[in-house]
Amino acid sequence: MTHPIWPLFDLRIQTADLELRPVRDADQVEIAGVLPDDLELDPSAHRFAQVDERYGRSLVVAQTYWRHYGSWTADAWRLNFVVRLDGELVGEQELEGNDFLTTRTVDTSSWLVSRFRGQGLGKQMRTAVLALAFGPLAAEAAITSAWHDNGASLGVSRALGYQPNGVSLDPREPDRTRADTMVHLRLTRADWLAGGRAKGVTIDGFEPCRPLFGLVAR
Ligand SMILES: CC(C)(COP(=O)(O)OP(=O)(O)OC[C@H]1O[C@@H](n2cnc3c(N)ncnc32)[C@H](O)[C@@H]1OP(=O)(O)O)[C@@H](O)C(=O)NCCC(=O)NCCS
Repeated sequence: MTHPIWPLFDLRIQTADLELRPVRDADQVEIAGVLPDDLELDPSAHRFAQVDERYGRSLVVAQTYWRHYGSWTADAWRLNFVVRLDGELVGEQELEGNDFLTTRTVDTSSWLVSRFRGQGLGKQMRTAVLALAFGPLAAEAAITSAWHDNGASLGVSRALGYQPNGVSLDPREPDRTRADTMVHLRLTRADWLAGGRAKGVTIDGFEPCRPLFGLVAR
């Protein structure tokens, strides 16, 4: 039965190897256990002074999760999926829509546990949320950004047909006193459809979620 208040909890995307489900409270401890040390977290997130680095990072991730559902509107939302391979939590894939009903543009970000990287799973999980975006959400474009030296993230985007969309200079961790080059990419609906990559992706449980995206029922 669909969750009576938050139907997103029953949304499910399946690719050849992966299952993606919107993150829930019950996932938080598991996420904390595998969160990679090299994952850049929101630099503006509150940090508690009396905790060690690893616990502090888990608190940032958990509070970000609660904030995203708590501040969700039809026009501005961030939907983070837990990604599982044979039941094991291997990473997270986020899909974000800002002014979505006006711009029909989504953004993405993701991470994988180190030992699962470099095997094509990053492409599969991005493909999964793009199938949702360009499918039932009827997006017109997807954008993404990565530091110039993040070969894997840029590689996923290029492999899926994104095109260059400019660069910017942004403050970079650890202390944000140094500016570095952020590379921006964009995938149009036409290029996504031409790639035929939605084939093999199954999306279940979307219809009850329509109102949360401000989309009319079918
Ligand atoms: C980004 C991330 C999710 C990608 O997942 P992945 O499983 O490693 O990626 P895949 O194996 O699916 O695909 C990577 C693609 O980039 C290419 N690639 C990888 N490293 C590369 C490099 N240094 N230079 C150029 N291309 C590279 C691969 O060849 C592949 O492209 P191809 O299929 O055309 O050959 C993963 O590496 C990760 O978790 N990184 C740390 C967190 C992170 O940086 N997240 C993104 C923040 S913007």
